[in-house]
Amino acid sequence: MKVDQKKCIGCGACASLYPDNFKINKDGKAEPIVGSDNSDAADVIGICPVSAISNE
Ligand code: F3S
Repeated sequence: MKVDQKKCIGCGACASLYPDNFKINKDGKAEPIVGSDNSDAADVIGICPVSAISNE
């Protein structure tokens, strides 16, 4: 998973739904947690309101 830092508005939906996969960084934006198991988080791509998350 990858979060486009330019697109993310820090809404927090990804981190609250998938706290094992995303965290909010010091800039107030989401970043993927390195090494986390993303197998259950495929639908997170669709919940970001600004489509900042991609499966790369
Ligand atoms: Fe940012 Fe989208 Fe998550 S706006 S905080 S990547 S749901």
